Amino acid sequence: MQNQLLEKKHNKIGTILQLSKYGSVELSYRNKESEETILNPIETSFYNINEVQTNINIDSNALVYSDNCYALYNLIKNNIKVDLIYIDPPYCTGEKFISRNLEQAYNDDLSLEEYIDFMRKRLILLKEVLSDNGSIYVHIGHQMVAYIKILMDEIFGISNFRNIITRKKCSSKNYTKNQYANLNDFVLFYTKTKNYIWNKPGVMPDEEWILKEYPKVDNNGRYKLVPIHAPGIRNGETGKKWRNMLPPPGKHWQYTPEKLEEMDKKGEIHWSRNGNPRRKVYFDNNKLLGITDYWDNYRDAYHQSIKITGYPTEKNLDMLKMIITASSNPGDTILDAFCGSGTTLQAADELDRNWIGIDQSPIALKTCLKRLNYGLCAMGDYVKPTKKFPKSGKCKHKYNIYIEKSKYISYKEIISSIESN
Ligand SMILES: C[S@@+](CC[C@H](N)C(=O)[O-])C[C@H]1O[C@@H](n2cnc3c(N)ncnc32)[C@H](O)[C@@H]1O
Repeated sequence: MQNQLLEKKHNKIGTILQLSKYGSVELSYRNKESEETILNPIETSFYNINEVQTNINIDSNALVYSDNCYALYNLIKNNIKVDLIYIDPPYCTGEKFISRNLEQAYNDDLSLEEYIDFMRKRLILLKEVLSDNGSIYVHIGHQMVAYIKILMDEIFGISNFRNIITRKKCSSKNYTKNQYANLNDFVLFYTKTKNYIWNKPGVMPDEEWILKEYPKVDNNGRYKLVPIHAPGIRNGETGKKWRNMLPPPGKHWQYTPEKLEEMDKKGEIHWSRNGNPRRKVYFDNNKLLGITDYWDNYRDAYHQSIKITGYPTEKNLDMLKMIITASSNPGDTILDAFCGSGTTLQAADELDRNWIGIDQSPIALKTCLKRLNYGLCAMGDYVKPTKKFPKSGKCKHKYNIYIEKSKYISYKEIISSIESN
């Protein structure tokens, strides 16, 4: 009884400690608003270009030309939920971004304090639209990764943190600053709860890996040798003698002597010249290698024949396909609230997911429309600005275009500029 009481007391203290460990650390800055204030809706109206009415509810599949704050309030108001969010916001670089066609795409020039406030507001709104079994991936540069990690812990909860992925964005280049060359950026992966969609991603091992890991061959195929004992002393069958041999000191057999006998009869045990038995493990042709938190095969476009839109900071399409396959199922809805050239939208469309893409830049909207209707161009073609896009890839599914009311005039200009190209 006394023990039980002690345990309860201990648990209580444990919980308090845990709460203070995870709950009391937060990023502080001037004029930080409460979540409640941020969630107070700001009303604006949207046009759906296919319908002549305003005050529209945004629904998937949708390309939304708007500040993402307004679009997110609209989604929240209409109780729209999404299953996966990928965002690649500005990184707080202080730069102005220009497309390969020399158009001014967007400015990334907020101060540190403004930037943190900007991101916090959007992350709070994004959490509201994420379904309970959903995931969020935030792509971010070295400049802000530490701040965004703290914001994410605060908003989504440290227990919902899954990975901080290092993505190799380019290969080593001539770096002129007096510091180490920067080749990577990061993707923070969080889920809304502990129960989330996860289709374990894997890649086929290459020939070199197979030869190294499975160096031996017999009539049954390629194999490697592994020990038949494991750490720990056992008093049962697996601690007994097999073939007059005890397991090595401090270890036990992985199988009972009877099972080891059976395996040996089937030729599954290899005996070394000095009489040391090991188990043969054959290479399975369906074997996939799990993907780690270091992604070195999703670099930004780096040679002239890779097809792109020409939008600055455009991300790797295969990376988006991998994320979407791992963290959603066909028919689910994917949201990218900083969609830029529409990489996430194309990946979602090709994988039969619904999508919502939001961006406030007219050049982003124009690029998305070109991408979704005409496809991509080889990087080399941008050396001379292309007049006509090849009609190489239309999107598979129908989508709507929503325009926030203050952007309606510039939308018309964008459409005529696409048509005159
Ligand atoms: C790094 S780019 C995204 C690139 C994109 N991942 C791609 O593959 O093309 C960031 C985008 O965020 C957009 N953006 C910045 N602030 C925004 C806001 N408040 N609302 C909507 N979009 C915004 C910019 O216009 C820009 O297109």
